[in-house]
Parts: sequence; structure tokens; C-alpha cells
Amino acid sequence: MTQNMIEIENLTKSFFLRKRGKITRQVDAMKDVNLSIKEGEFFVLLGASGSGKTTTLRCVAGLETATSGNIRINNTSVYSSSSRQDVPPQQRPIAMVFQSYALWPHLDVRGNIEFALRKGARRPDPKVIKSRVDEVLQLLNLQEQEQRPVAQLSGGQQQRVALARALALEPRVLLMDEPLSNLDMKLRAKLRVDLKRITSSLGITTLYVTHDQSEALAMADRVAVMDQGRVIQVGTPTEIYGRPNSTFVGQFLGEMNVIQGELLTPPSKESTLVQSSLGPVEVTGSSYQGDDREIVIGIRPEDVRPATEAGKNTCRATVKARSYLGDCTVWDLDVSGVKVTAKWHGVASFSEGDEIWISLPPELVHIFPGEGTTARIDGPKRSMTIDSQSEIATPTPISSAF
Ligand SMILES: Nc1ncnc2c1ncn2[C@@H]1O[C@H](COP(=O)(O)OP(=O)(O)OP(=O)(O)O)[C@@H](O)[C@H]1O
Ligand SMILES: [Mg+2]
Repeated sequence: MTQNMIEIENLTKSFFLRKRGKITRQVDAMKDVNLSIKEGEFFVLLGASGSGKTTTLRCVAGLETATSGNIRINNTSVYSSSSRQDVPPQQRPIAMVFQSYALWPHLDVRGNIEFALRKGARRPDPKVIKSRVDEVLQLLNLQEQEQRPVAQLSGGQQQRVALARALALEPRVLLMDEPLSNLDMKLRAKLRVDLKRITSSLGITTLYVTHDQSEALAMADRVAVMDQGRVIQVGTPTEIYGRPNSTFVGQFLGEMNVIQGELLTPPSKESTLVQSSLGPVEVTGSSYQGDDREIVIGIRPEDVRPATEAGKNTCRATVKARSYLGDCTVWDLDVSGVKVTAKWHGVASFSEGDEIWISLPPELVHIFPGEGTTARIDGPKRSMTIDSQSEIATPTPISSAF
């Protein structure tokens, strides 16, 4: 069984802003964060600006001291608030690559990598240093640049030097904070692939920070989505994209139609019936377990399907606008006054004002907790129909499980 390489337990980090010695503000950059990262895993922290990603990385590196909690790396405690332990960064088995490359501009490529090895705690023998530098130069395809001052290199080459320098230290754990964000799209796409290949071939456990959702989905074995210092969901890219646990995650990772609703039956994995702003909807495979009747449902634009006629989970929609994006077309639809966005590949020949049928596949509709502002949906039933479920149109009493 793969063991955990990094374990973060109940980690909280608060910054106290002071004026003339007095605390004027407290910023909770991390709140009760728990994460277990397996050996060899490529683990991505994903979140908007200010969500606490860098703070998490810096606490693992030892560059920041958390306020409370525990951190273990390779089964050894490196931080524990209860036993007042805080191992300094140079004694942790890690290397870090920053967004700003933090290279020595007066040294050439080889010099930058050697310097990192010489100043490290282990200080290998000069022969070992030479062979290790040769190895990483080759790995990152930097042999031709080895004698050039780093100030004369392109952004992508500098980024590779920063990575080569980190890898030369042969860390058990590599921490990377938005390392590709200064590069153009093409180079970023190439380095994503290189980075993933190199870290996985060397068996390095990687903790990687980004605010770019496509980067996270493309690179990660698992992703932790952060918001306001908290971890909202952890899962593989397919889990967090396909089964988000909240509208926040659903909308942060791509687009999602969010529609108000009310449960008509107790939530169950097999089948849950919802009275939504679009009409009654059946949902299958939902893991919603809340006890509030007022919920919202979510469906991604690419999961809304065009339909030829009334049927299961179908409703009538009016085409409001379309945007042709080359590989797909985005359709703005109106269903009884509710805006629904659909994204379809291929050429659908609808025009503005057309009345069409759409269907919401039950397995692709998600149920999320209500958002406080959810208006109760009473009144006449809308145009959604559910196959042979005519009794659904009249809400049945909800069991006492609610
Ligand atoms: N040294 C500090 N002093 C005070 N507040 C700080 C400090 N460092 C970070 N913060 C605050 O902690 C919160 C989390 O910051 P952090 O740098 O971890 O976010 P981030 O997710 O890395 O954001 P970004 O994507 O912009 O880099 C922010 O509100 C930030 O202002
Ligand atoms: Mg940051």
C-alpha cells in the first residue's frame, strides 16, 4: 500500500496585522486544513487569489510557522503546535520552485544549479555535484545553455533552470507555487507535460499550486479545491469535475447552470425527485445528504442535451442567442423565464426564437445545498416532464426524514 508522504492535520494559520504593537486585524489564511498526500503523488492545490494556497505551501516548506495543527513529512513530524516543534526549512526533505524563478542573475546556468547543491545541508562531493548537474541539464534539455548567464535566457528556459536546480537536490518532496504562470500558453502546455513526466519518473511527491483550473485538471493525480483558507473538496480531476460537492466547486471548475429547487422525495442515490424552477426533475446517483428541502440543482452546459420530443426530464426552451466557438456552440436558452446555457459540439441548426426540447440526463444533474436566497417554488408546474411519473406533478408529502 502506498504510504502518505505529507500529512497536514487541522492546520490553521492566522496573520495578525499590528499597528503600534496592537493587533488591528486578523487574517485567517488557512482554517483547519486536513490533507494526506501519497508518496509519488502529483497533488494540486487549486483556488482563487487569496484562498490560502501559498500559505499552505510555505507552512509545509517551513518558511511560515502555522498557528496550530500538525505537519508530517515522510512519517516524521516537522511541525506540531502542541509540542512546539518547528523543523527549519533546510532540514525538511523538500525543494521549492517559486513563481518568480529566484535565480542568481550573475551566475550561468551550471553555476545556479551547483550553487544550490553547495549551499545545501548535505554538500555533496564535487564529483557528485558535477554528475548531478549534468544529469538535470540533460533531463531538462538545457545542455546548450549551460554556460549562459541566466539573465540572457527566455522565461521558459529560466523556468527550466529553476526546476533543474530543485531536482538536483533530489528532494523527496517538490513544492511548486504557480511555476508556469509567467509563460505563454504554448510553452505552459509543453512544460506541464514535461513536469508531470519528470516528477513521476523520479518518483517525487509533488505539491503544486495553481489558480488555473485547466492546469489542475490536466496535471493532477488529485486536486484540493481551496476557498477562503478552507479545503472545500479533494478528489481526482474526474471526481471534482464530474461530481462537485458544491456549486462553488462546480462553477470554479468550468461552468454550471444553477437552478433553484425543492426536494419532492428524500434524497437517495437511486432516484431523487426535485421540483425545480424548470419543473420536476429526476436525479440519479446523487450523494446529497442534507436535511434541508430547499436545494439547488446544477448541470453543466455540455450535459444539457437537445431532444426531439417530450420525454424523461425534458422541457421546452426558447433559443435566445448562440455563440459559435469553433469546436462547439454555446446556446443561451430560456426555460419559463430561467436562463439555461447549453454547449453542443457539431452544428445544430437552431435560430434565435426557435422553440426546442432539451433534456437533462438524470445522472448528470447534481443536487447541492440551497444557497439561503432560494425562493420557494410553489405555484403552477412548468414545462418539465418526467416519463410515466405523472404523480410527480403533485408534490407528495415529504417523510419525517427531513
Ligand atoms: N505575510 C502576510 N501577512 C498578512 N496577511 C497575509 C500574509 N501572507 C498572506 N496573507 C493573507 O492570507 C490570505 C491567503 O494568502 P495566500 O498568499 O496564501 O493566497 P494564495 O491562494 O496563494 O493567493 P494567490 O493566488 O493570489 O497567490 C490572503 O488574504 C493574504 O492577504
Ligand atoms: Mg499564492
